[in-house]
Amino acid sequence: MIEMTRRVTFSAAHADWLPQRSAEENRRIFGAKASPEPYGHNYVLDVGVAGAIDPRTGILVNIKEIDRIVREEVVCALDRKFLNRQVAHFRDQPVTAENLIRFIVPRIAVALPGGVGLCSVRLEPEPIRWATWRGSYPDTFRDITTMMVTHVYEFAASHRLHSAHLTDEENRQLFGKCNYENGHGHNYVLEVTVAGPVDARSGRVIDGDVLDAIVNAEIVERYDHRHLNFDVPDFAGQVPSAEVITRVIFDRLKDRIPAPARLHRVLVRETARNFFEYQGEDRLSQ
Ligand code: NI
Repeated sequence: MIEMTRRVTFSAAHADWLPQRSAEENRRIFGAKASPEPYGHNYVLDVGVAGAIDPRTGILVNIKEIDRIVREEVVCALDRKFLNRQVAHFRDQPVTAENLIRFIVPRIAVALPGGVGLCSVRLEPEPIRWATWRGSYPDTFRDITTMMVTHVYEFAASHRLHSAHLTDEENRQLFGKCNYENGHGHNYVLEVTVAGPVDARSGRVIDGDVLDAIVNAEIVERYDHRHLNFDVPDFAGQVPSAEVITRVIFDRLKDRIPAPARLHRVLVRETARNFFEYQGEDRLSQ
């Protein structure tokens, strides 16, 4: 089986407000930013399909056919719309990335040609946050209640790669410039992914403000503009390599995500050319 992902974009407006509900109820659902005033996003939508390579053509599916289906089923329905007013599906449910995916998945899944199954949909309202659904081919869209949500953060920090288990010469040999005595810095980009059921009332896996508050308090405020070897107790007795940073962040966050959501993955980009991912040691049993 092979997977193919196609990207399309559309623009749409929405309000964090349900007109049938009272102002008080809207504030409970949307928090302090509840408002009937619309605002918009340039959405980036990635549609993943899976199946077998056709031995006659050498392809999985005609990409033009995927484009036509996504255009007819999704883009025509959503592009340039004020979603709360113009799309019946959103008359009485919050316009969130998760609820948009629940709108998109069944529409594309039933329109796909035989032999091809929908395996993933990723929707990015902003480059710093997105929601992802993954199906289990060939059951495809049996479960659209469980999704992943990713938020992106940044922190700048210094470190020195130097192991107490090696001699000074061995450290120099292994780590090179990264072993310079007074350290060096990186602008780290951190992606935190949580997974869980979409809450029926909020239309979200997790309140984005809650996730941001947790990650900012636990990670960004502790690590940003610090020297990880000297200023951050999390790294005492450890080499603060990107690998260790990634694992330490996962372990620090994993018990702090409010249930039923749970931490799924931490990804750390140390430079434009390398990144590190960790899903915990028990991920195979999840
Ligand atoms: Ni470094």
